Amino acid sequence: MLAPFFVRGKDVSDTETLKAELLADVDAANDLQHLDDVRVKALGKKGAITAQMKSLGGLEPDARKARGQALNAIKDEIAKAIDAKQSQLSDAALNAKLLNEKIDVTLPVRPENDGFVHPISQTIEEVVSILGEMGFQVAEGPEIEDDWYNFTALNIPEDHPARQEHDTFYLPGVGEKGRKVLRTHTSPVQIRTMINGEPPFRIIAPGRTYRCDYDATHSPMFHQIEGLVVDKAIHMGHLKGTLIDFCRAYFGVQDLPVRFRPSYFPFTEPSAEVDIGCSRKDGEFKIGGEDWLEILGCGMVNPKVLENCGIDSTEYQGFAFGIGIERLGMLKYGIPDLRTFYESDLRWLRHYGFNALDVPSMVGGLNP
Ligand code: PHE
Repeated sequence: MLAPFFVRGKDVSDTETLKAELLADVDAANDLQHLDDVRVKALGKKGAITAQMKSLGGLEPDARKARGQALNAIKDEIAKAIDAKQSQLSDAALNAKLLNEKIDVTLPVRPENDGFVHPISQTIEEVVSILGEMGFQVAEGPEIEDDWYNFTALNIPEDHPARQEHDTFYLPGVGEKGRKVLRTHTSPVQIRTMINGEPPFRIIAPGRTYRCDYDATHSPMFHQIEGLVVDKAIHMGHLKGTLIDFCRAYFGVQDLPVRFRPSYFPFTEPSAEVDIGCSRKDGEFKIGGEDWLEILGCGMVNPKVLENCGIDSTEYQGFAFGIGIERLGMLKYGIPDLRTFYESDLRWLRHYGFNALDVPSMVGGLNP
């Protein structure tokens, strides 16, 4: 601790000497910590100036006044010198830090904050991009439908067993065209498209659909993509060619076996289900092989449906298909349980999700 009138052994009773000593200290400080020590030593409670201030009491009034003023002036001057030195030192510290911390702007961004594209969105993207490049346009319809669009116009009358098969969610309220329902398939978009436009049509309609069902391969909300082509000379060959090309492009297997199996839908005649070749060995599932797995329903548009939409069925024909999106995604990406799509488990999404740029297309390649 400094004696009241001595700084480092020097008599500093003379205020000029005191000032010079303290300024020299400030000047000598070469980092912020050191400067802070100097500040405490000069201006702190037990510092040199404070100590001298305390000793003023023993002086004659005139001398006390003169010395008090001198000490205050020194105090201000030292404080200013410390401030100036402080900004000089912190600039220097910052510059030194900037010099040392070189940033390599060519390094890739850290991946932690990346989001992932959900496999459902990815599958829809892929299907839309393949069919889009075949010339289909995307159409949309509401998820809350009127009974007429979802059933009646599609040739599913009131007491038809197909209504029960669909496990419909009915909603309170009646629309312009019958009871409100959550659409059980994307087929009502066929009706809305035909009613609101003029043929020819070549549309696809991806979207959410609802049925009261829940197990490893069914969820009450799921996704379909509908396809509809209506024109003057459309025949079964167009239907088969389109769907075989689609399956091969989607699974990226050029010689993928595709089979059309007769089936029944009220809105198509004839109707078929499409199976793709697969193999199941030792619990392992593979695309391509001797076994068959159903992936979609299709058929030639029933003339009654065309007539229900005001289209002359002697002049126009068409084909339609409906694909289950979840099933396509599960098959291609090896996802065993459909319920996991909707559990919002981030670990699952990190595992099965896609980077935003991995969207395949006919041009960019199907398997990036
Ligand atoms: N809508 C049918 C279903 O959900 C699928 C389908 C669409 C079948 C179009 C034929 C034509 O099962």
